[in-house]
Amino acid sequence: MQNYPNATLLDHPIIRHKITHLRDKRTHCGQFREMVKEIAMLEGYEALRHAPIVTKHIETPICETDQPLVDQKKLCFVPILRAGMGMSDGLAQLLPEAHFGHIGLYRDEITKQPHEYYCKLPGNLSELDVYLVDPMLATGGSAIDAVKMLRAHGAKKISFLCIIAAPEGVKAFCETNPDVPLYMCALDDKLNENAYIVPGLGDAGDRIFGTMK
Ligand code: PRP
Ligand code: URA
Repeated sequence: MQNYPNATLLDHPIIRHKITHLRDKRTHCGQFREMVKEIAMLEGYEALRHAPIVTKHIETPICETDQPLVDQKKLCFVPILRAGMGMSDGLAQLLPEAHFGHIGLYRDEITKQPHEYYCKLPGNLSELDVYLVDPMLATGGSAIDAVKMLRAHGAKKISFLCIIAAPEGVKAFCETNPDVPLYMCALDDKLNENAYIVPGLGDAGDRIFGTMK
C-alpha cells in the first residue's frame, strides 16, 4: 500500500475467488470455516516468507545432505477470539509445532470499542516471532488493543494477518503500529454506520460459528 509501507495487500485470483465465497451470504458455516482456513494458509505462505530456518542433516536415497526446516519453535500464532480461531486452524495445519496464544476481545455493540475478556500467551513471547490473526480489520480497535497486549507481554516481533480490511482500520492500525507488518487479502470500500465493513462478509464470528440472530 502506497501510504503505509508496513501494509501488504495479497492480490491473487485464488484468494479473491475464495473471498467471494466468504462474502456470499448463502455460504453456510461449514464451508465458510473451511474457506477461512484455506485463505489463512495461503496468507501464511506469504507472511512467513522470512520465517526462521534450522538446518537438518538427512540422508536421501542418494547421499547425505544438510537441508532447511522452518524453526517452528520460534513461531507463535495468536488468534483474536472468536473469529481469529478460523485462521489459526489453518496456520496450525501448516506449522503444527508452533506455539499458540489466545486473546479474547469483543466489540461493544453500541460504542464499537473492544473489551478484553481473555489473554493466555506463552511465557517466552519476547523470543518468538508473533503472528496475530483476525479475519476482520474494521475500525482497527481490536487489532490495536491486541498488539498492545502482546507488547505488554514482551512481544518484540509482531505481524498482523487479516482477511478483509477497511481503509479506516488500515489507517488507524498503520499509524499506531508502523513497525508491525500488516497483511490483508482484500481492501474494501468503507465502514457503514454500524462500523461493519462494506461490502465485507457480515460478522465473521457469527459466520464461522453459525450464531447469526
Ligand atoms: C470482530 C472481528 C474483530 C473485530 C474487528 O470481532 O473478528 O475482532 O470485530 O472490529 P474492529 O476493527 O472495529 O475492532 P467481534 O468483536 O465481533 O467478536 P467475535 O469474534 O467474538 O464475534
Ligand atoms: N467485525 C466483523 O466481524 N465484521 C465487520 O464487518 C466488522 C467488524
